[in-house]
Amino acid sequence: MNRTVLITGASLGIGKEIAKLFAEDGSNLVLVARNKAKLDAIAKEWKNKYEIKVEPIAIDLSKPGSAKSLYVTLSKKKINIDVLVNNAGFGVNGEFSKNKYSDESEMVHLNIVALTELSHLLLPGMHNSDVKVKGILNVASTAAFQAGPYMSNYYATKAYVLSLSEGLHHELKSQKIHVTCLCPGPTKTEFFDRADMNDNNLLKNEFLLATAEFVAQVGYHAFEKNKAIAIPGFLNSLLAQSPRITPRFLIRRIAALMNKG
Ligand SMILES: NC(=O)c1ccc[n+]([C@@H]2O[C@H](COP(=O)([O-])OP(=O)(O)OC[C@H]3O[C@@H](n4cnc5c(N)ncnc54)[C@H](OP(=O)(O)O)[C@@H]3O)[C@@H](O)[C@H]2O)c1
Repeated sequence: MNRTVLITGASLGIGKEIAKLFAEDGSNLVLVARNKAKLDAIAKEWKNKYEIKVEPIAIDLSKPGSAKSLYVTLSKKKINIDVLVNNAGFGVNGEFSKNKYSDESEMVHLNIVALTELSHLLLPGMHNSDVKVKGILNVASTAAFQAGPYMSNYYATKAYVLSLSEGLHHELKSQKIHVTCLCPGPTKTEFFDRADMNDNNLLKNEFLLATAEFVAQVGYHAFEKNKAIAIPGFLNSLLAQSPRITPRFLIRRIAALMNKG
């Protein structure tokens, strides 16, 4: 039996690459993002190319009630989800007190609330599913391991995602439901455009950026093996561990310098 995988933020970047890997293994897909035209185009191409079912659903998951509304749409279409990839997310850059609260709030809603609500709504269906590998792949960030001045709230949302994922990984292991938290470092996608960080000097160094394809591969394989945490790249793994041995004040200063760029 083919499994069905729902990927949020599947229209581009890391989410699209993760979706492609599931398409290549024959999984049916539900692709979620705001841009309907992009989703429709991907669905049309992949249905033929991979001979799978692809259901595009355009919805803004930063709006209250959106996760429930997505769940109702799936129920009406009689689609049971075996794998949920909570990938959609964005970052707000700058001083917290000077940023628009509506931006901070939308980010919390997308990065935390929608991810949590979708997980809670879709887990019962996973319990009843007969597929071999099922569960949740959450996309956090290496930002999850430390505080990050000038992107404080974004770093905090990702710390939440990592903590929730690790807890669920343990709770669901005996029930053969996989839970993996993918923690990418800087990756070449549209993320920095949306965070208005294109002037950041550090990010102008292409060699510091991973490709979305590489990040997706690491996440996909870690999920299949039910690894709790996956950090793409040796340097990122090292940096994620550094808060354990480096004084926290120093970690905060370095992150502040990086985020101010
Ligand atoms: N790129 C990095 O350096 C990096 C590093 C660490 C972690 N991450 C994390 O990786 C994940 C994917 O980011 P990315 O780099 O691939 O970013 P991206 O290229 O900007 O893609 C974001 C995806 O999320 C969708 N999305 C954005 N807002 C949405 C909303 N309100 N409702 C539904 N879908 C929405 C976008 O599609 P629409 O615009 O069509 O909605 C798009 O498909 C995020 O959680 C991000 O925090 C990224």
